[in-house]
Amino acid sequence: MKSIILAGGSGTRLYPVTRIVNKHLLPVYNKPMIYYPLSLVMLIGIREILLVVNPQDLEAYRGLLKDGSHLGMSISYAVQKEPRGLAEGLILGENFVGDENICYVLGDNIFFGHDLPKILVEAKEEVERKGGAHIFGYYVKDPERFGVVEFDREGNVISLEEKPKNPKSHYAVVGLYFYDREAVEIAKRVKPSDRGELEITFVNEEYRKKGKLKVKILGRGFAWFDAGTHDSFLEAGEFVATIEKKTGLMIGCIEEIAYRNGWINKEQLKKLARSMEKTEYGKYLLRVAEEEG
Ligand code: G1P
Repeated sequence: MKSIILAGGSGTRLYPVTRIVNKHLLPVYNKPMIYYPLSLVMLIGIREILLVVNPQDLEAYRGLLKDGSHLGMSISYAVQKEPRGLAEGLILGENFVGDENICYVLGDNIFFGHDLPKILVEAKEEVERKGGAHIFGYYVKDPERFGVVEFDREGNVISLEEKPKNPKSHYAVVGLYFYDREAVEIAKRVKPSDRGELEITFVNEEYRKKGKLKVKILGRGFAWFDAGTHDSFLEAGEFVATIEKKTGLMIGCIEEIAYRNGWINKEQLKKLARSMEKTEYGKYLLRVAEEEG
């Protein structure tokens, strides 16, 4: 499976902060936002990643993440000329994915929770075995801000709606989706919605209609942030800071994950650490490299 991470968009909901700097490059506490979705994809063992970015940000992303080889990965880039909606990321990724299945992630989604990688790996393996799509719901107080999924008593999905005025449930669809290759073809058929965007919800709805959509609920033990507004951005940063200070362990530390996955060795990790040794981040990486075992 390969992954496409969407890191374009105009970020108008975060103006004026995002007038010049792309949202996904802004810090969520001590690292760029893009590290968080990237780290999640790495935690489930995906090494080949396509980042979909705005033309004006391409060099910044290349400067930050290069071709991924320093992390034992392959990172490539596709340019989205105009932010036309989430489904377009799948179309732009057509050549990149080839015949593989897709883990599609929104670059502003931050997840945290015990056993999350295990749950995601199960979904990933299911899509690899049987095809179809697998998405996740999360209970929120403001579902009208999101894609919303409604269930019947048996837990079957009965509707999916994008930012409904009168949501039929409190379950938001989070920005992490597993699809078989068919998703690219479906994305090509999406027509712009009332807000003028190619909605990912349309893609999910197509799978639902065919009986090929699975939804799993991420329960109360998980934290999920869509850092799309000033408040949710701040909340995400505060959350990461709280957990990291408490445990002394980092969330979303891509160098650490590459090392623990065995994609880079101790010397490579130390080299990365030395390039930022004045920061707590660099010191943390050195500590990880010097652990026993
Ligand atoms: C997008 C999707 C929405 C999903 C959300 C998750 O919303 O359209 O279905 O629930 O991401 O972050 P947007 O960020 O485009 O408002």
